[in-house]
Amino acid sequence: MTTDLTRSQRLKAATATIHDTLDQRIMALDPFSSPARYVCFLRAQQAFHDALAPLYAAPTMQALIPDLAERDRSAAIAADIADLTLPLPAVPDARPVEPVDMSTSLGWLYVAEGSSLGAAFLLKAAQRIGLSTDHGARHLAGHPEGRAAHWRRFTARIDDATMTAEDEDRMIAAARDAFTRFRTLVDAAFA
Ligand code: HEM
Repeated sequence: MTTDLTRSQRLKAATATIHDTLDQRIMALDPFSSPARYVCFLRAQQAFHDALAPLYAAPTMQALIPDLAERDRSAAIAADIADLTLPLPAVPDARPVEPVDMSTSLGWLYVAEGSSLGAAFLLKAAQRIGLSTDHGARHLAGHPEGRAAHWRRFTARIDDATMTAEDEDRMIAAARDAFTRFRTLVDAAFA
């Protein structure tokens, strides 16, 4: 049993394998070997975040997470793409993720927000090919308050939300769907 964990820790544990598989897949694609490969990664990021726009804009979710709108990295991703001025690969149409219920929305947002944590490592790799948080790698920048503190404020919302066990299962399923979606987009962008 994992009842001694917080809800967000249970979510992390339930998605650790799918995260690690995605992480290994991305690194195997060598996205930081050149700007031309990096732009494929950016395209996947853009399609993923575009699909989540309805969640970041949802009044119900903004009520739960007061800084939600400013957490949205879509504008930074678009600026990164504009910086690179390289042709973009095609990816499947990004099916928008609508805010059907709070738990499902939190599962998707968890994946989008959590990707900023690993981004510390990705930023270092991006810097080695001449990118920076002012050019091409804006969306990988840490939050001024620090990545960890910014992340803890988000997971606190997951931990404090009122949820039944069924709600929590739905949140976990949604997070897995989100990782699967990212995987599909990455595979298409690098194909
Ligand atoms: C090569 C690519 C990636 C690497 C190397 C990587 C690495 C990491 C690392 C090291 C952490 C833990 C950071 C910490 O605890 O301070 C982390 C957390 C996380 N990453 Fe990734 N990541 C990658 C891609 C992604 C992607 C594409 C997503 C989402 C689509 C993602 C979602 C998450 C989530 C949700 C967490 C938070 C886990 C938690 O603490 O609950 N990661 N990642």
